[in-house]
Formats: sequence, structure tokens, C-alpha cells
Amino acid sequence: MTTITIPKQTIPGPHALPLLGWRAAMLKLFLNPFATLRHMHDRYGDVVALAHGDPSHVVAFGPAMNFQLLSNPDLFETTSSAFVKLPKDTALGRLMVNNLPVMIGEKHKQHRHVMQPTFHKQQVALYRDDMVMFTQHLLDQWQEQEQTQINVHRAMQQLTQRIAIKTLFGLYDEAELQRVGKMLRQLTSQQIWIMIAPIDVPGTPYHHVMRLAEQMIAFTSAQIAQKRSQPAATDVLATLVHAHDEDGTKLNDDELIGHAFTIFVAGHETTANALTWTLFLLDQHPRICADLLDELDGSLHGDAPTIEQLHHLPLLDGIVKESLRLLPPAAIGIRTNTAPCELGGFAVPKGANIMYSEFITQRLPELYEEPDRFKPQRWATLNRTAYEYLPFSAGRHRCIGAEFATQEMKVVLPMLLQRYRFSVVPNTKIDTNLGMRPAHGMPMRIVPQDRQFQRVAVGGNIQQLIDFA
Ligand code: HEM
Repeated sequence: MTTITIPKQTIPGPHALPLLGWRAAMLKLFLNPFATLRHMHDRYGDVVALAHGDPSHVVAFGPAMNFQLLSNPDLFETTSSAFVKLPKDTALGRLMVNNLPVMIGEKHKQHRHVMQPTFHKQQVALYRDDMVMFTQHLLDQWQEQEQTQINVHRAMQQLTQRIAIKTLFGLYDEAELQRVGKMLRQLTSQQIWIMIAPIDVPGTPYHHVMRLAEQMIAFTSAQIAQKRSQPAATDVLATLVHAHDEDGTKLNDDELIGHAFTIFVAGHETTANALTWTLFLLDQHPRICADLLDELDGSLHGDAPTIEQLHHLPLLDGIVKESLRLLPPAAIGIRTNTAPCELGGFAVPKGANIMYSEFITQRLPELYEEPDRFKPQRWATLNRTAYEYLPFSAGRHRCIGAEFATQEMKVVLPMLLQRYRFSVVPNTKIDTNLGMRPAHGMPMRIVPQDRQFQRVAVGGNIQQLIDFA
């Protein structure tokens, strides 16, 4: 006899006021993301509705749910309109419609196939020299300015932005780097206005964002035209302009503009946050920092690592992995189901917004002993599946820049640490938000590396996220 299990209809979750519904929990998630996620998981289990009984907005926790959501991209699609509909006929819409994260099905497969070689290990290795050059500039700049206290987060943003602009567009010139960097920075930091107040009237922030988007389109179009006449250029955009599939498929201008913008946005902020948190975690764990310095001194002797040397720095590898486990720059992801489905024993109607959490998965005690502690050495023996450790997500939409980001971190960190000791200003409030950004920056003192590592006390919500014992 076969037993048929009928999915339960009511997904548990917090009771919300009728008028607010799922928005109340969403607001909580924005204001206090990690405590809210943990509370939801602990209290309600692996499948939780943002509002009790409303299956339109759900969070699904843990590796089994990650597997279900991420290994079946035709049923669980990525979505660009989970919380806000993008005006496609506007400049910002044009920038944000043609890109891998929002493409689905065959189109996504085809574009990913065309773009993949650009992000292949061997190709990424060619960007190592640019990564070294810009890091060296930063180190020289710090030396010249004799600065002792800096906002390390801001410095990492500038560094990863420069590396991204150079590798993406092939731009070197300082004035150009500054101009494009400013435009992109303003555009990405002010995107929030498309959600808050989408009013395109002169003087409004939304209007300003639209004008910036137009400038970005004009700039990228000019770059594309230039790359067409430079068959030998090796930057990402040039490679995409000249790339085509086996069947001859090429990316058109709108697609090139969309991809270039997304690669820039997806690529630099995440890596800047990851670098900042790693420097912070090392400062707060003096023993590990000293061991890392031993490893670096032993094989690099003060130099920047070559690609070959990157394969022989096991502690650095563990530190990068552990930092991305504890403070993953993408803490949650989202999918929408194209048909009614069953999730962890519950019925979910078509078109629900289903979130999953890298952050919660990577803190599960059954997967990671002492999950809140920074223990890079665990990676010497630990192996986790793609759905148990997923800082770059998993499945068809897994980060195409994972190799790029990891290499960047492994090139930049040894260069910074061999030259300087970073120590966070005592009693700084270190808060992180849903975007995994240090909300008030990361003020640190830098002094020439003297190995006088010492942990200082800090405040903020980081205390609830990391066990510093
Ligand atoms: C530490 C740094 C980074 C982290 C943690 C990260 C994380 C992620 C995650 C979690 C996704 C998947 C989102 C989803 O499944 O919905 C993603 C996608 C993506 N990332 Fe990254 N990323 C990083 C750096 C980069 C870099 C350096 C680039 C490019 C140079 C990049 C380009 C992209 C693109 C284009 C996608 C979309 C892929 C697709 O939909 O097929 N990322 N990233």
C-alpha cells in the first residue's frame, strides 16, 4: 500500500497585524536581520512564513531546503521583482534587466555559457597583476600620508572598485578611475530610492538616480564602441564584446550594458565587505594573525603572492573560507516558484517569494562545531557539500565571480598584512546589516607590521554574531 502525504497548509510564523502582514517581519529583518533569522529558525523550524499562515513570503532554512531551492532552477527561479517592480522602460530598468541574476531558463544558460570563459580560473589569473598594482598603490598612499587611523571599509571599497573598473573596462587613468568610480558609487548607493519614492520629478533623489543611470549607459556604450575596434584588449568588457557561443550567438549592446553594470555591482562591494571583515576577524584573533604572518613570511618574504604561491598557503585559505562562513557578504538569497510546490511538508502556492539563508546554514551546530567561533583551522579537515557551505550560493546561479573574488582576497590580504598591523579603534561600535556591511565603517589604526597583536574590546551587534572567547 502506498502512503500519500498531503502537505500541510498553514506555514508557521510570527502573527502579524492584518494591515502589515509579512511587511512587519520584513521590517524586522531589515532592522535586526541576524537575530530575526535565528529567532525564526529556532522558534518555527525549517520553513517559516513571514506572517503566520500567509504562504506568499517564506523563509526556508538548512541544507535540504537549499538543495530543493537551488538545484531546481526551473521550478525556483531568481526574481528581480520580489519586493519592488523595476520600471523596465527607464534608464535604471535598462541597466538592471539584462543581467545574469534576473535571467532565467534558456536565456540565462546561453548568456552564462558565453560569459563563463571570462571568469575561468586561467583568465582570472591574468588579473592578478592588476590586483597587485592597485594594492601596492594603496600601501604607498598610506605610507606617504603617514596616516595612522583609517576607515578600512572605505579603503577596501576604493580598492575593489579600482580593481573592478580596471579589469572590467581596462581603465587606468587616475582621473577616469575617479570619475567612473564616483558615478558608480552614487548610482549603487542611491538605488534604494526606486523602492522608497519612485517619483521622477526634477529635484527628487529618484530623478537623480535616473540621470546617473543615463550617464552610466552613455559611458558603457562608448566603451563598447571602443572595444569593438580593439580586438586585442583583454579586459572583461572587451572579452564579452568579442565572445560568442559555438552557434555564433553574440551579446547585443543592451545585454553588454546590463552585464557590465551587474558585474561591477556584484563584484566590488561584496569583496570589499569580505576583506574588511577578514581584517577585523584577524585583529580580534591575535594568535591566528601571528600564525598567518608566519605562513606568509615563510613563503612570500614580504612580496605579493604569485598565482602558484596561492596554492600553498593553507592557513590563508582557511581564513578566507572561515570569514566567508561566519560573515557571508550575501547573507540571504531569494527565489520564486513557477508552480505550486511542497516545501518541507508545507504547500506553497505558485509565485511565492522564498528566501534561503547562507548565514543560518553556515552557523548550524550540526554542520559546524562551535559555529560562532572563528576557527580557520577547521578547514584543514572539513569538507562540506555545496548546499552546506554556500557563500557564493549554489546551482545554476552560483556566483560567476567566485574565483575572481577568492583570488582577489588572497592577493590583497597578504600584501596588506605583511606591511601593516591593523587594529580596530578600541570600543568602536561594530554593527552589521542585512547587506553584511559594517554599518558605521571600520575605523582601524595602521602601523608598520610589528607583530604586537592585541585584541581590543569593541561594541555593537557583532558581539552577538561572533563568539570571541
Ligand atoms: C566575496 C565576494 C562575493 C560574494 C560573497 C558573492 C556572492 C554571490 C552570490 C551569493 C550569488 C548568487 C545569488 C543567487 O543565487 O541569487 C552571486 C551571483 C553573482 N555574482 Fe557574486 N559574489 C562575490 C563576488 C563577485 C565578483 C568579484 C563578481 C564579478 C567580478 C561577481 C559576479 C556575480 C554575478 C554576475 C552573479 C550572477 C550569476 C548568475 O545569476 O548566474 N560576484 N554572487
